[in-house]
Amino acid sequence: MKAQLKLQIAGLFGLMAFIATSPTMAAGDAAAGKAKAQVCFACHGVNGAGPANPVWPKLAGQHAKYTAKQLADFKKGETRKDPAMAGQVASLSAADMANLGAFFAEQTPKAGGAAKDKVALGERIYRGGNEKSGVAACAGCHSPTGAGNPAANFPRLSGQNAAYTLKTLSDFAKGTRSNDNGSMMRTIAERMTDAEKSAVASYIEGLH
Ligand code: HEC
Ligand code: HEC
Repeated sequence: MKAQLKLQIAGLFGLMAFIATSPTMAAGDAAAGKAKAQVCFACHGVNGAGPANPVWPKLAGQHAKYTAKQLADFKKGETRKDPAMAGQVASLSAADMANLGAFFAEQTPKAGGAAKDKVALGERIYRGGNEKSGVAACAGCHSPTGAGNPAANFPRLSGQNAAYTLKTLSDFAKGTRSNDNGSMMRTIAERMTDAEKSAVASYIEGLH
């Protein structure tokens, strides 16, 4: 009951953050995005389906607005920084970002798989969190299937490479990635043990 209430409050908070920051983003044009996306395939795989290096993210199937927001955040270079992405976003306009978001949202990612020995702990954290340490259930915002919540700009997680998810959770925990409105991810990641982060990252790769 208590956990349920906390989730509802968290969801409401996310929605408020979304309303406060996102209404200026226009819907993108996927065909225009496709032309701009060719250079991205070298690192993110053809159509963003899956990169050669699992510490890099899949982009295929991600919500358009979330992708556009990440590109804008990389370009500002304050709350999300990456040396490989900095050069990619320097010349992109807001319209380019929206178009790229629309293109990748329409693509299909390669399926992944979870490590058998990590499923039990990973699933427990994903669905129920850890009440003792105050880790909120991932499913509350990212949905039970990992589909995310496009209206609230909660990203899709299902099938994402475990190595990338683990790196990202560690970046949130250290605060080197701080582009989560209201510290929604930082407060969660900093309370997770290394074993929990690793298990949930593996579980997410197998989630669909
Ligand atoms: C030289 C390699 C490289 C190229 C080329 C590249 N990226 Fe990336 N991209 C990365 C890496 C590495 C990351 C992960 C950064 C991190 O760890 O936070 C990333 C992250 C991203 C993310 C964040 C994904 C998420 O789930 O939060 C988006 C969106 C993205 N790239 C879009 C693009 C687009 C669009 C292009 C083409 C215009 C592109 N990238 C080209 C290496 C590259
Ligand atoms: C209160 C809502 C909320 C909860 C609960 C939550 N998240 Fe998130 N998560 C977010 C938001 C919002 C973002 C996007 C931040 C941004 O705009 O870049 C995010 C982003 C992420 C990302 C980055 C995705 C990417 O492609 O880079 C990962 C990974 C993630 N969450 C994992 C988790 C895990 C694992 C849990 C459970 C332990 C969890 N989240 C619980 C709201 C939440």
